[in-house]
Amino acid sequence: MKLGVVGLGHVGLVSAACFAHVGHDVVGVDARPERIDDLESGKMPFYEPGLEKVVAEATSAGRLIFDRDLANAVRDADAVFICVGTPSLSSGEADLSQVEGLAVQLARHLGDGHYRVLVEKSTVPVRTGERIYRTIRRLTDDEFDVASNPEFLREGSAVHDTLHPDRIVLGSPSPRATEVLERVYQPIVERSGCETVVTDVYTAEMIKHASNAFLATKISFINAVAELCEAVGADVEVVAKGMGLDPRIGSGFLRAGIGYGGSCFPKDVAAFAALGERLVGDFDLLRAVQKINERAPRRLLDKLRSELWYFNEKRIAVLGLSFKPGTDDMREAPSVRVIRALLDDGAQVVAYDPVAVPKAKEILPPEVEFVSAPLDAMEDAHAAVILTDWDEIQGLSPDDFRRTLRFPIVADGRNLFDPEEMRRAGVTYLSVGRKAVHP
Ligand code: UGA
Repeated sequence: MKLGVVGLGHVGLVSAACFAHVGHDVVGVDARPERIDDLESGKMPFYEPGLEKVVAEATSAGRLIFDRDLANAVRDADAVFICVGTPSLSSGEADLSQVEGLAVQLARHLGDGHYRVLVEKSTVPVRTGERIYRTIRRLTDDEFDVASNPEFLREGSAVHDTLHPDRIVLGSPSPRATEVLERVYQPIVERSGCETVVTDVYTAEMIKHASNAFLATKISFINAVAELCEAVGADVEVVAKGMGLDPRIGSGFLRAGIGYGGSCFPKDVAAFAALGERLVGDFDLLRAVQKINERAPRRLLDKLRSELWYFNEKRIAVLGLSFKPGTDDMREAPSVRVIRALLDDGAQVVAYDPVAVPKAKEILPPEVEFVSAPLDAMEDAHAAVILTDWDEIQGLSPDDFRRTLRFPIVADGRNLFDPEEMRRAGVTYLSVGRKAVHP
């Protein structure tokens, strides 16, 4: 099939490459000329394992073309995927101006008598598909449908998630659009055996927001339980294990820690809560999820402060900067808040991350020092704070902390180490939802 993909961010670029990988002819466009320049020269705009290879194979087979001109993504296309950004407004609601702008531009390129499905893949509030349809309908008499096909890929495993999804959700307004979308996904359904949920557009939009909000709720729930565990001396890791063995609860997304970050959960929870408040009066459940998430970094720093007395003039090693391993994405990464708070309190910060340093340098204050190995960060530091569960950090031994740090004090926002082993190695170890241990 011939497909257009508009917006080559995480969702758009991975989708374009994977559609081409399974045999479709794809034209990917982006309004940022530098993004197209980079892609044409084989440079990936972000770190995503396996993406470079899939893009290189698809472009050299001639099945994936990058272009600056929207017309080339629309001409001859059976379906055009809308993957532009939907950032947050200050109210928390989604800023749909890029979607609206694209709808107007798309209308200009229809009008050739060829039926197309315009597919929203960006995460949007329920009813956006209808607004896109009306905007375009006002400007053209051509035949088209607007469908919703939410994306469930995770950064760090995006290529795998796209080629082997748990489910495909097709929100379609007509049997004709459904048929086009089912043909698009047929090769992926065949190879993965996943189930397809075919529904209306509103329901598909709702599935996406509800899924992300639910996962964020699971994380905040276990983080709230972690706070209680600390108060009573219980161990949240064992509580999560005991809960997760019940298949009705499930063990996924029950890891207590520094809270969720990234470009999706914080934005989607805010937008879903704002939508609920506007349409039905309140969504207090999600407001509580946000509150618990916001206090997680502060709580970890409070524990560390109580060991060090003051951060002023203390050198703190920050291990891990990206919001999770497998990505260089710094959007809403807890490390940004932690580092700013440390600097505000007069600490010197020396930071390590295996891939996110270039992106981190763009957003963190210039006084942060960066090093290329975790042990270098800890050399001469008074304490270490662990913020991302990278293998390079999990692979450290308790002895590494004791030998390298000036004071062997570790505040671990990811619960990567066994408290008893840390204690035996002579480390003061402060983790989440477990007893603090001292040598
Ligand atoms: C998330 C969803 O998992 C994807 O299904 C969805 O497609 C995507 O958002 C999106 O809407 O585009 P992603 O943001 O890549 O994917 O990251 P996750 O792996 O879901 O992790 C989100 C955050 O939750 C991270 O900060 C992670 O450290 C944290 N987390 C996750 C926990 O604190 N505890 C857990 O048990 C799991």
